[in-house]
Amino acid sequence: MAEPLNKFNENITSETKNPTDVIQQGMYYNLFSEGMDISPNLSEVYELALAYYESKILTKKELIKNSAYFVKVDDEFTNHYFICTGDPVKIPEYSSSRLKSFFINNQFRTGYSTHGLFPYRGKFHPQMIKAIINIMGLKPGNTILDPMMGSGTVPVEAALMGIKAIGVDSSPFCRFMAQAKCDALKIKHKCLDGLIDKYESIFSNFNSCPKKINVQKDLFFKNNQLSEESDSEKIFNLIFLAFLDSEGYAQRSKRKSHIEHFKSILERYITAVNKIAVVEKHLNITPVQTILQQGDARNLDVENNSIDGIIFSPPYSFAIDYLKNDLSHLKYFEKNISKLNKSMIGMRGKTLKEKYCIYLEDMDKVISECSRVLKKGRFCTIIIGTNDSQLSKALKIPKENVSGLNKVVIDIGLSKGLSHVRSLPRQIVGMANTMRQEYIVILKK
Ligand SMILES: C[S@@+](CC[C@H](N)C(=O)[O-])C[C@H]1O[C@@H](n2cnc3c(N)ncnc32)[C@H](O)[C@@H]1O
Repeated sequence: MAEPLNKFNENITSETKNPTDVIQQGMYYNLFSEGMDISPNLSEVYELALAYYESKILTKKELIKNSAYFVKVDDEFTNHYFICTGDPVKIPEYSSSRLKSFFINNQFRTGYSTHGLFPYRGKFHPQMIKAIINIMGLKPGNTILDPMMGSGTVPVEAALMGIKAIGVDSSPFCRFMAQAKCDALKIKHKCLDGLIDKYESIFSNFNSCPKKINVQKDLFFKNNQLSEESDSEKIFNLIFLAFLDSEGYAQRSKRKSHIEHFKSILERYITAVNKIAVVEKHLNITPVQTILQQGDARNLDVENNSIDGIIFSPPYSFAIDYLKNDLSHLKYFEKNISKLNKSMIGMRGKTLKEKYCIYLEDMDKVISECSRVLKKGRFCTIIIGTNDSQLSKALKIPKENVSGLNKVVIDIGLSKGLSHVRSLPRQIVGMANTMRQEYIVILKK
């Protein structure tokens, strides 16, 4: 029951506090125990809420090992601090000022570890995922599922936390990208030495070869003898992702040629991989194996009651056409794009209204699958934008009467045996025309 209003007001006014004391003491003093330093980039209310839950749920040892929003606990630097700063690694002296500033400015933002390897639209903030994994109570050895993994933020974070991840996406390009990012966590330090010197020949091979991943791979292995046999597939994936990344940059920016983009992107990828390899060694982290599949979230190849936690972000109905966005990359993996369209959630249907109706049916199936595979007592977190502006236009009803997608997924969840634990609002930047707010919706089986 809600607290009676008069009692609440009484509490506020019963004792007048000295402003100097209150301001000097600061807000964090009341939220966290002494000796807990939060991450310097923490700037949003939802992040503060997640940090607060982490501080209440995790033990001191767990906070040092796996917390997402703390850099120090009782004078001890957290693993997150080392992963973000790359300490004790130094960026090579020969690096360009652009590359140096990329790593320095990106500290504690979203590009640490291998997350910065490809700018995928709709990518999660990795530290948000790490915190959600923590507050859902997942521990090393548990299994987490992301049935729509996109660029693989969940599997990458989970692998570093000692949690097994199953990642699924209907796009073969996403599967490849997520695999490349997870693989890159396992490339040994110094394995990439000398690679940048060969960038011209690697580029011309990729550029002259037919646009098919397997043909590209065969030619790469024919022309490049890699010393570490076990890492060769991982190294190919990394370099080929850099090539696809450079193709995208070359289309968007004509300031540099394609090959120049390739060189600087490959240089950045190599530095990122070397950094995380040294940090892993320093912290004694062995990234856990991930299982990444091209598949359909509406029909998962996962056993009943086998998963300890689920995190995913579905398309926000028809807000982004992922296939169109990734078309130039997808061509390397699948010639028949219309085949992929059949499983792509949010895009099927002729009119927007029809698209939305099909979307609702699809989301019903996805959440039903999540409920089926999740163990009892475990959590399923869905990050979803309201999309109320677009829906209001599509359904021709006033915005205030539209049920935002956050409410829609809660209702579907309730009908599938899940309960609603909490929703945390989060501002969206960069999509102001279509929607301003998304929610972290936490459901429990
Ligand atoms: C919002 S993005 C996910 C981004 C991801 N959280 C990340 O950090 O990169 C939604 C993803 O859902 C995928 N998707 C759409 N329909 C799907 C389906 N039926 N099964 C699996 N994945 C699907 C899209 O390919 C896209 O990558």
